[in-house]
Amino acid sequence: MRKKIVAGNWKCNTTVKEGVELAKSVNELVLTRGAKDVVVVLGTPFTHLNSVAESVDRNRIQIASQNCAAESKGAFTGEVSVSMIQSTGANYVILGHSERREYYNETSEILNKKLALILEQGLIPIYCCGEALTIREAGTQNEFVKQQLDETIFYLTEEQLLKIVIAYEPIWAIGTGKTATTQQAQDMLAYIRGLIAAKYSKSVAEEISILYGGSCSASNANELFSQPDIDGGLIGGASLKAEDFLSIINGY
Ligand code: 13P
Repeated sequence: MRKKIVAGNWKCNTTVKEGVELAKSVNELVLTRGAKDVVVVLGTPFTHLNSVAESVDRNRIQIASQNCAAESKGAFTGEVSVSMIQSTGANYVILGHSERREYYNETSEILNKKLALILEQGLIPIYCCGEALTIREAGTQNEFVKQQLDETIFYLTEEQLLKIVIAYEPIWAIGTGKTATTQQAQDMLAYIRGLIAAKYSKSVAEEISILYGGSCSASNANELFSQPDIDGGLIGGASLKAEDFLSIINGY
């Protein structure tokens, strides 16, 4: 059975001290009141990974970076490699977030290099995809997302694909308070699962966790997570408040 996952993406927020405090609060709440069958992931800035990894119960909380270098090591000033990330205790990498694609020109070619390094190192990529508002308004969101997948994760072998998590995040719903309707989210996730079934097999498609992200909150998580193809969420703003994040985890 595929995993239910609720992953926080803290983005460029919190100092190390604030991040550790937040992680400790989440840890406490998850241990005492959190749904036991949900995988909880904290996606922190690079600078926080090690301290956060050391302040939570690693049997219960997983740690993600929000990016990684496209090279394994060497003269790439300012970059953070997958093995460095792994050495902090993190075991997930959020990859291809629309903010990185848009503001830092992350192309499919770059993402493929990163994907290969993450998988080689045994970490789990949370691969993000999703369309802009203009594309949604034109009604071509399925074609757009298919192209993103065709150019990246659909190059993976079946064995590799089974190791990844996919997050569909429509750009128009990120940080806007404008969540995709439950039906829009379910439709896209079912569409992605259908693409995987057609390209690989139905059993592979059934194994892969696909998350929804974009203004997911304590008030809408329950309805979103009740859908058959929504296996959890990638949470931005609401992951910065421990109680809100817990409510989303308990949205199942
Ligand atoms: P918000 O939950 O703040 O809309 O952000 C979603 C997101 O981008 C998570 O990666």
